[in-house]
Amino acid sequence: MKHELVIVLDFGGQYNQLIARRVRENSVYCEIKSYKTPIEEIRALSPKGIIFTGGPNSVYDPASPHISKEIFELGVPILGICYGCQLMAYTLGGAASACEKSEYGKIDVTIDNRESLLFRDIPQHSIVWMSHTDYVSRLPEGFEASAHSADCPTAAFENAEKKLYSVQFHPEVTHSEYGKEILRNFLYNVCECSGDWVMDDFIESTVARLREQIGDRKVVLGLSGGVDSSVAAGLLSRAVGSQLTCVFVDQGLMRKDEGDFVEKTFTKLFDMKFVRVNCQKQFLEKLKGVTDPEEKRKIIGREFYKVFWDKVREEADGGFFAQGTIYPDRIESGKGNEAGKGSTATIKTHHNMVEKPADIKFDGTIEPLGDLFKDEVRAVGERLGIPRELVWRQPFPGPGLGVRIIGEITEDKIKVLQEADAVFRDEIRKSGIESELRQFFAVLPDVKTVGVMGDHRTYDHLIAIRAVTTDDFMTADWARIPYDVLARISNRITNEVEHVNRVVYDITSKPPGTVEWE
Ligand code: XMP
Repeated sequence: MKHELVIVLDFGGQYNQLIARRVRENSVYCEIKSYKTPIEEIRALSPKGIIFTGGPNSVYDPASPHISKEIFELGVPILGICYGCQLMAYTLGGAASACEKSEYGKIDVTIDNRESLLFRDIPQHSIVWMSHTDYVSRLPEGFEASAHSADCPTAAFENAEKKLYSVQFHPEVTHSEYGKEILRNFLYNVCECSGDWVMDDFIESTVARLREQIGDRKVVLGLSGGVDSSVAAGLLSRAVGSQLTCVFVDQGLMRKDEGDFVEKTFTKLFDMKFVRVNCQKQFLEKLKGVTDPEEKRKIIGREFYKVFWDKVREEADGGFFAQGTIYPDRIESGKGNEAGKGSTATIKTHHNMVEKPADIKFDGTIEPLGDLFKDEVRAVGERLGIPRELVWRQPFPGPGLGVRIIGEITEDKIKVLQEADAVFRDEIRKSGIESELRQFFAVLPDVKTVGVMGDHRTYDHLIAIRAVTTDDFMTADWARIPYDVLARISNRITNEVEHVNRVVYDITSKPPGTVEWE
């Protein structure tokens, strides 16, 4: 089934994915495209509407992203946001200038055009999120201002006849009180979308498409137990059942009982061939005596893919290779900053990239979630009946507990950390604050400290606990867990976990710390 499409044209702003998610939340399918996309390509996609994103530049900077005037002649409704709003004015013959007073943060805005389709049913006064140092100082011919703020006479403007609308503020962020409604008005009142993007239809049409594509051939999927590969497995199982083989590599560095839980879920609830490879011993062998964090990451990554591809080689029988790639993994950014590429220092080597060895042949690769955002993946997972523990699982690093055991990794240390982590998670769950935390886990530093138990001196492990709140993991704040919850966690870990005599709470934000300790 072909869905109505809205294009989010990316000019390098920081909220671009958020705009796309907001559009999808309104049941309208959209895709992010670079501002460099040729006009013919855009025309061929027959979009119902186009949204210009914000961007970090000034429209007068020759190096900043520009767009050909032709886009305004497609007859497709356009909404310009922030930089996109200035670009619309500038390209159509208006002008932008530096603000006398920049607006940043929550700003009062007044709607002047009560007839505007964009502002239908929106109160005349509301709060919006602004972040700009330039503003539109002269409107192009045929346009009129439709909203203002104290310092910006053109907080919104439009040419209703041509269906061109612009807002200087960011309707996509939740700080804009009626932002969601304004976007909805654009999609439904201006673009006249019908709202045909719903997850039940997605499942039905994807299952039908997968069945047709796969026919009676086989599919092999790498299942990690993370959200994306679990949901991909659920969808593929619904489509082709036992033609699907899931390869699950348990390197022995998962959380307590996690491997068993994944196995139970997929063997009991879904029709598929489930292949689990237990290889903790092999990993520990390779990691013996290794203490350097980067070295550990590299060994774990290398071994993981070796074991994984060896098993896939055994299971592959022509057919398809499937992976849980999701939409944000595929988006090309419109930031015109190619020069900066590759110049950021390696903080940590992530090893999530799957490179298939050349000798394993498949008829093709399938990415059933390739068009979905994470929240949509979760919605699909819930509808498929995948347990909440998997659908709402926190991010878990590829190297697993390997980067949470500081120094050399041993079997004993893995057990200590798994037990302590399980107690921590249990207490957070019971305390009712789980949904406020984006990630929380225990760490086993390479430290022993003196303690006292009864009349005896002890010299044993220290456990650190880490809990963070964050929007995007680029920055994070340590979570203010209530003292009484911390007290219970500490009490239980020192009482229940053998060889732990001390618990500390990590109160470092990111930066300067990272979320993980290694
Ligand atoms: P850091 O420690 O870099 O973590 O602040 C940010 C987020 O990334 C996760 N993380 C990883 N995820 N493979 C992954 O898939 C990795 O190697 C890896 N290292 C860190 C971390 O758990 C946090 O959510």
